[in-house]
Amino acid sequence: MDWGIQNRLAGILRPQTGRCVMLAIDHGYFQGPTTGLERPGEVVAPLLPYADALMLTRGVLRACIDPACRTPIVLRVSGGTSVLKDDLSDEDLTVSIEDAIRLNASCVTLSIFVGSAHEKTTLTNLAKLCDEGQRHGIPVLAVTAVGKDMVRDARYLGLACRIAAELGAHVVKTYYCDGFEKIVNGCPVPIVIAGGKKIEERDALKLAYNAVSSGAVGVDMGRNIFQSQWPVEMIRAVRAIVQDKLTDAQAWEQFQQETKGRAAARPTGRRPSDVGCGMADVNRSDTPLPTSHFRHPP
Ligand code: 5RP
Repeated sequence: MDWGIQNRLAGILRPQTGRCVMLAIDHGYFQGPTTGLERPGEVVAPLLPYADALMLTRGVLRACIDPACRTPIVLRVSGGTSVLKDDLSDEDLTVSIEDAIRLNASCVTLSIFVGSAHEKTTLTNLAKLCDEGQRHGIPVLAVTAVGKDMVRDARYLGLACRIAAELGAHVVKTYYCDGFEKIVNGCPVPIVIAGGKKIEERDALKLAYNAVSSGAVGVDMGRNIFQSQWPVEMIRAVRAIVQDKLTDAQAWEQFQQETKGRAAARPTGRRPSDVGCGMADVNRSDTPLPTSHFRHPP
């Protein structure tokens, strides 16, 4: 691997542990002002000291993040769809490599949609991005997006992760599932897991612990941190599992100690109108802007 790619990866996967707590706030690229992320700059500022990397779009980076920020940037460079369409797989590359370099990105990231209508385009997007990344010494993180009718099992996710690695991704992001070790075993590059839709803090900590215990090198977590009523304490607990190797029970104990008697930073937890982020999540019935409103105008 080229020195530049290794050097940038070492900024994301902490060299002392080989692990990473990545904070994902790119959700707006297809779902707009996601609950908890309406004002990304304010949400992220207190969380950054506990994040090894920040995953976001160039628009939010330029508009909301202090350029003095030293946290490595994982720049989302795919998009072109919104929650108003049935098929979210129709993505293109949306950022040139020159702009990624201008933004001092440590890594570029895109989604692949294995098994979808646009499988081929998203996979060739990945291959092209890996060529560009290789040319400029920038690593590529491939996100295995999951369609609404697809099962998030080890067979499917293992297939998607392996294809991402075969096409040149340096890191893969996927979902945790039963038999996760099989996915790790079949994927020759490091894997981080997405948190998925908001669940109870105790359960999210268990998810993070199970993932790293099964071979993930860390998390790329969004909603289970920024939609928590205690986002700072939550990212600290996740970090304790990933970087300090605490068990989920120990991290939960820490979370409880740190939140005891403290007012919540957010007034409520997840609301019924909140939408998800993975393709499977955004097609849930509580998505606030059903496509039919727009396909069949009055
Ligand atoms: C969307 C993404 C998100 O960054 C990803 O889903 C992580 O966030 P969360 O933990 O909220 O699932 O890649 O495609």
